Amino acid sequence: MAQEKFLWWQQDVIYQIYPRSFQDTNGDGIGDLKGIIQKLDYLSWLGIDVIWLSPVYPSPMKDFGYDISNYTDVHPVFGSMEDFELLVARIHALGMKLILDLVPNHTSDEHPWFIESRSSRDNAKRNWYIWVDPREDGSAPNNWLSVFGGDAWQWDEHTRQYYYHAFLKEQPDLNWRNPQVQQAMLNVMRFWLDKGVDGFRVDVMWHMIKDSQLRDNPPNPDYTELQPDYNKLLPVYSTDQPEVHDIVRLMRNLVDSYGKKVIIGEIYLPIEKLVVYYGVNNLGAHLPFNFQLLTLPWQATQIATAIDLYEGALPVNGWPNWVLGNHDQQRIASRVGMHQARVAAMLLLTLRGTPTIYYGEEISMMDVPIEKEQIQDPQGLNMPGKNLSRDPARTPMPWDASDFGGFSNATPWLPLGRNYKRVNVQVQQNDPYSMLSFYRKLIQIRKKEPALRIGNYRPVHSDHQLISYTREWEEEKFLVVLNLTHAVSYFDPPHVQINGTIVASTHNELEGMYVNGAIYLGGDEGILVKLNDISSL
Ligand code: GLC
Repeated sequence: MAQEKFLWWQQDVIYQIYPRSFQDTNGDGIGDLKGIIQKLDYLSWLGIDVIWLSPVYPSPMKDFGYDISNYTDVHPVFGSMEDFELLVARIHALGMKLILDLVPNHTSDEHPWFIESRSSRDNAKRNWYIWVDPREDGSAPNNWLSVFGGDAWQWDEHTRQYYYHAFLKEQPDLNWRNPQVQQAMLNVMRFWLDKGVDGFRVDVMWHMIKDSQLRDNPPNPDYTELQPDYNKLLPVYSTDQPEVHDIVRLMRNLVDSYGKKVIIGEIYLPIEKLVVYYGVNNLGAHLPFNFQLLTLPWQATQIATAIDLYEGALPVNGWPNWVLGNHDQQRIASRVGMHQARVAAMLLLTLRGTPTIYYGEEISMMDVPIEKEQIQDPQGLNMPGKNLSRDPARTPMPWDASDFGGFSNATPWLPLGRNYKRVNVQVQQNDPYSMLSFYRKLIQIRKKEPALRIGNYRPVHSDHQLISYTREWEEEKFLVVLNLTHAVSYFDPPHVQINGTIVASTHNELEGMYVNGAIYLGGDEGILVKLNDISSL
């Protein structure tokens, strides 16, 4: 395939912004759209091409914006529609793209659709949500559990039925089998596409359709007490139903009618189920999020195997993608440690597929401990004692060493990391050894080298310490060798002739070094080698 045939969302680097925590400009301790506008030059300097914004719509904020009460406006805490339009214009002027978070599975219980729906059994919008009679004994229609703890069914005394909520009871699930709901959400998508957005990250895509018979979920034999309550059952009837693919297809048809846009699906499923979301003939989601690097233990053989299983499971022309973190998960630097986070960055930015960076990853932000009394996340509050709060990964971005890290001039909604005077953007911009400089270097090499953006991937060798692979495009070939342990390791696989120059390394000192034959790697070390002879590996 010629280079021009690859589309922007295949070649670009995506950056997720959690707007509450990026940059505050109006002194309320919460980030806003004007703050994002202020930081566009930084993102452009870093080499980011695509910004994905977590929700900025009006919302009672029970789930921090993932409970939407109006899909076609901006929450005043983030700014106005004028700010949004300016943001789109500025992003496009910089040659960047903007992806919005679309939350189609559920609304807020304060959304006018739900207010109508719950008003009476014969309301015209009754069927927009999932209302079901109790069982004979008055109990909930089945055993489904809420992801945020407790029962997934909420009794409504007024109309004497239950409604289903996969998340909070303040987040009732829409009934996606109803064509009116489908049309209403497609209209929401049109509204934003008409404003120029370049695509959507679709929230909990695999939840959108539930079993029509509402059968009980079976128990999970592997459940242990420390896991979220939700894991007690296997959600085989409440999620990932075959008809969901018709819905994804509808969304895809719509965005395709607007030209070269993208649909990214948030889907936590095993690979063989995940890849189905590419759709027949790849007419489903362009990028079903691949969360393996977030969920697997950080162990070389397991990760190497997972990469190959994924590459092997992709449909023909299905484009891969990789993620190290997001607003729902522990930060990568906390999960694997500061040193391995550099190795992880090299993996993310040299694998075949679109990388998504979670804000702050580029300065190795870590999870910030949040005092019990300050916990805000409903997932943490509802299941105390299980350490499930997502707040630690959602703390304000430290920009400099001034008060509140330059994020705000008021006390932020969540505290900054205690080390913000050392770990911040300004300090790292001036340090060639910093994580930020490393991220920027990798992104710039990726931009320059088609082999890294779109080239073939080929595993070379992996063992209990190392992962290695090549990326190749026309006359250029790179070898990546990553040491996923803290111990020194030796790379000398049989039948492999290495001859090339190290162009990037987790430890800058190696850069420019000529490699000929076996390679010794220090602990936590990773190298990107430009090979002299493309037939050598
Ligand atoms: C997705 C979001 C998460 C949210 C949930 C419910 O998983 O990423 O933050 O709480 O959906 O909308």
